[in-house]
Amino acid sequence: MRAVHPGALVITAATEVDLDAIDEISQHSFKTPWPRQTFVDELARDHARIDLARRGGDVVGYVNYWLVTDEVHLLAIATHPDARRGGVGAALMRHLIDGALARRARLVTLEVRAGNEAARGLYARFGFADIATRRSYYGDDGEDAVVMTLALAPTTGEPGG
Ligand SMILES: CC(C)(COP(=O)(O)OP(=O)(O)OC[C@H]1O[C@@H](n2cnc3c(N)ncnc32)[C@H](O)[C@@H]1OP(=O)(O)O)[C@@H](O)C(=O)NCCC(=O)NCCS
Repeated sequence: MRAVHPGALVITAATEVDLDAIDEISQHSFKTPWPRQTFVDELARDHARIDLARRGGDVVGYVNYWLVTDEVHLLAIATHPDARRGGVGAALMRHLIDGALARRARLVTLEVRAGNEAARGLYARFGFADIATRRSYYGDDGEDAVVMTLALAPTTGEPGG
């Protein structure tokens, strides 16, 4: 595990050279991490994006999302365990929402484990609302998923609606 690095946070699109760093963060962040190949596939999909937060040259977080018509669907966001509670997740969410506004998306959608307090706190901070519960959604342990959405108001450039 790497140490927290001081310095400015820079967010850029991932490429194949970043796959090991993405996979490492994923392995340390999720109960059932995706296979590395899933990230390879995501990088090849036209509608998929993986953007990285770097600090001091190291990858400290990533966000994976899909651009589908006028919606942005968040698949995963993760901060390296050594860098948590330092604003990385918030910076990635701000980046995601700014990008959604720039492409005049109407809605940002996601599913989150009902018991994931850190993620639900992050999403709530950005104005996401709970709209539904999917019972026993997660195949590994049967945990419920909460569906959350953020309505965007592209004409004002601010989250709202
Ligand atoms: C969720 C996650 C991405 C947050 O990343 P982070 O870089 O630690 O988040 P930040 O430091 O930017 O925190 C932003 C806000 O998120 C919320 N938050 C973050 N961690 C939290 C925690 N442990 N408990 C409650 N709220 C939390 C808070 O509202 C926080 O704002 P604050 O610091 O002003 O209180 C991180 O905990 C993580 O990688 N978790 C494992 C992967 C995961 O579950 N991803 C989400 C499902 S895809």
